[in-house]
Amino acid sequence: MVAGSDSSFSSATRPLVAMDKLVSLCAARGFIFASSEIYGGINGFWDYGPLGVELKNNLKALWWQRMVRERPDVVGIDTSIVAHPRTWEASGHVDNFSDPMVDCRACKKRFRADQLDDAGKCSSREGSSEHDLTEAKNFNLMLETQIGASADATQSAYLRPETCQSLFTGFKRVRESSRQKIPFGIAQVGKAFRNEITPRNFIFRSREFEQAEMEFFCHPSERDEWFEYWRAQRLQFHRDIGLNEGRIRNRPHESDELAHYANAAVDVDYEFPFGWQEIEGVHDRGDWDLSQHTKFSGKELAMTDEATKEKYTPMVIETSMGVDRTCLALLCDALDEETLEGGDTRTVMRFAPKVAPVKVAVLPLSKKLSESAHKIDAELRKRWNVFYDESGNIGRRYRRQDEVGTPYCVTVDFETEDDKKVTVRERDTMDQERVPLDGLDAYLHERLEAGS
Ligand code: GAP
Repeated sequence: MVAGSDSSFSSATRPLVAMDKLVSLCAARGFIFASSEIYGGINGFWDYGPLGVELKNNLKALWWQRMVRERPDVVGIDTSIVAHPRTWEASGHVDNFSDPMVDCRACKKRFRADQLDDAGKCSSREGSSEHDLTEAKNFNLMLETQIGASADATQSAYLRPETCQSLFTGFKRVRESSRQKIPFGIAQVGKAFRNEITPRNFIFRSREFEQAEMEFFCHPSERDEWFEYWRAQRLQFHRDIGLNEGRIRNRPHESDELAHYANAAVDVDYEFPFGWQEIEGVHDRGDWDLSQHTKFSGKELAMTDEATKEKYTPMVIETSMGVDRTCLALLCDALDEETLEGGDTRTVMRFAPKVAPVKVAVLPLSKKLSESAHKIDAELRKRWNVFYDESGNIGRRYRRQDEVGTPYCVTVDFETEDDKKVTVRERDTMDQERVPLDGLDAYLHERLEAGS
């Protein structure tokens, strides 16, 4: 009997593994590592490796499936990162999208005035309890770039700080071309950029990240209902991707913490090793964005109700998921260090199969079996992301798959030729079962696609 091997073992009942262990496992196994690592990295930028990109793509595909494909009332788009600069004047980002910042006169480091606990890292503090900090100044978080080749014709522009503004500027075109009627939503997944003063906690707060956002346009009389509907939908999504119920919660914003565009907001928080933190926001943006873009562009974005002839500007309920933060929550939630009988520790990523980067590993016991193992591998690859590994001790190969969260290992042995069967090992229980080759696909399908 293996201690803690029960597959119903829930992450809320075990402590989360420390962040430094997760960060080093992510680098060592190719999930996520520092951008431009050979140059010493660049603060606030991260690269996803072969396993990280699969995890992230699985998450984005599940989001797209739930938010776009399954819904006749939501359409998806994909827009440019650089928008007309007037967009950001209209949206309020030029004037309002800033954090208060202070500098330490002694060590020259910069901190967010509202996160002065960070100043614990300030070297001027060593040996003294005093900080020599400047007055707080507002620092705009948008990353600026120049477009155009000739010196006199260059124009400043911004890398978008949120993906949603083009869902507002494209509102009329998308509604008319897709023949949608209010209420309906527009969704997209894409990169956003913020010049964060203090990027930290691995991929939690970075300067380049991905958002999965949906703007739902409704009649003013229905805004409260839709806000509540989307709040519940989005919380459920995080349960459905396998995050432990005990580590997710909704947290409504106090009126003094609302963003400049929001009338009401509720976060989905996850309990990270560094505390409860937001992974998604659901916002009632009212008619702020459409009204502002009407004012700045001169193009009317209000609607006329066909039946009543009432003219109104739709209200917007927004759902905004941080893709990287949700990946981090999935990684934290999955990582387990299990003590085996005899005292050994087994590191296991207990991902739900639907988010697991690799679904199946094919492991021939000997290189002499590689021909038949390659055939099985090629067959399974038609459907799933498969990892093939024929070198080294089988126990160590299993452990490597446990560490990256592969739900099933298929072992090809010397009997396979004769009995046309393989051994399938399950990650959480480590139970092994002999499965006929002609039923392997159905066996894995039943287990991998369950509940998806
Ligand atoms: N359009 C609304 C909007 O952008 P937000 O609360 O500023 O709202 C939404 O951001 C989500 O984007 C957050 O819940 C978070 O998951 C993610 N996010 C924001 N800033 C981030 C950063 N610097 N690094 C990683 N993710 C970030």
